[in-house]
Amino acid sequence: MLEFDAVHFHYRKGREVLRGATFSVQAGEFVSIVGGNGSGKSTLAKLMNGLLIPREGSVRLDGEPTSDPHHLQSVRRAVGLIFQNPDDQFITTGVSDEIVFGLENIRVPAAEIGERVVRALRAVRMERYADSAPHELSGGQKQRAAIAAVLAMRPRLIVFDEATSMLDPQGRADVLQLMKELHRQGLTVVQITHYMDEVPASDRVLLLDRGAIAFDGTPDDFFASADLESYALEKPFAVRVREALGLTGSLSDDWKERAASQW
Ligand SMILES: Nc1ncnc2c1ncn2[C@@H]1O[C@H](COP(=O)(O)OP(=O)(O)OP(=O)(O)O)[C@@H](O)[C@H]1O
Ligand SMILES: [Mg+2]
Repeated sequence: MLEFDAVHFHYRKGREVLRGATFSVQAGEFVSIVGGNGSGKSTLAKLMNGLLIPREGSVRLDGEPTSDPHHLQSVRRAVGLIFQNPDDQFITTGVSDEIVFGLENIRVPAAEIGERVVRALRAVRMERYADSAPHELSGGQKQRAAIAAVLAMRPRLIVFDEATSMLDPQGRADVLQLMKELHRQGLTVVQITHYMDEVPASDRVLLLDRGAIAFDGTPDDFFASADLESYALEKPFAVRVREALGLTGSLSDDWKERAASQW
């Protein structure tokens, strides 16, 4: 579905942020992208939906390069981005307005807008806040409103760029749960995170190191084999406990059971 082929990117000449990043994301996957501060994760996210274009190499969505201006519009629609700071994402002054704004921007017919707003609010369980202003919402609710605005555009892939990192524990849990729910419903999900505890929720982990992909595999293999400390990443609490107790078996199975009983 999404393919990065030897992607190079720099903002300033001589300071390469991505150096030949190569990987692909298949339809229906739930992928985590991890990496130290400044390793280029947000740059990668922006390359995914054509906000940035590779200097070298290619990013393709269903075979079409994002560098082709003819496809840019459809790429932006197909790939939704959710950023870190919920306050930076609110453009209008109300939750419904925010969704409508996005839809008008991509010229959705007026007759279709009402229905899309209702569905999107329902998907993020924010029906009650349809008329709320941003300052009346918690951080988690603002993120859910931002997710609703993206969902209303009917993307096929949503990229969450550290979307939980500014939220309190409840907000984080809600947004993470929503990602899993959307994935279960068939959406392709990419989450960029520095919370290692969130990684086992996904099927696959990509580690970005010095502008290239240094690991690509399952969360279990990642925590078992990757030398996390050298990438300035910490193993999740559950993994450290299991190691201390000498337990084996799949962390993600455990995690899924726990998640299922919680929800
Ligand atoms: N608009 C910009 N102009 C110039 N340099 C930038 C710009 N955005 C990012 N950079 C630089 O590119 C590098 C990668 O930044 P990026 O934001 O992609 O990393 P990140 O992995 O998302 O970091 P973080 O963990 O802090 O979110 C950093 O060195 C950063 O300073
Ligand atoms: Mg970032």
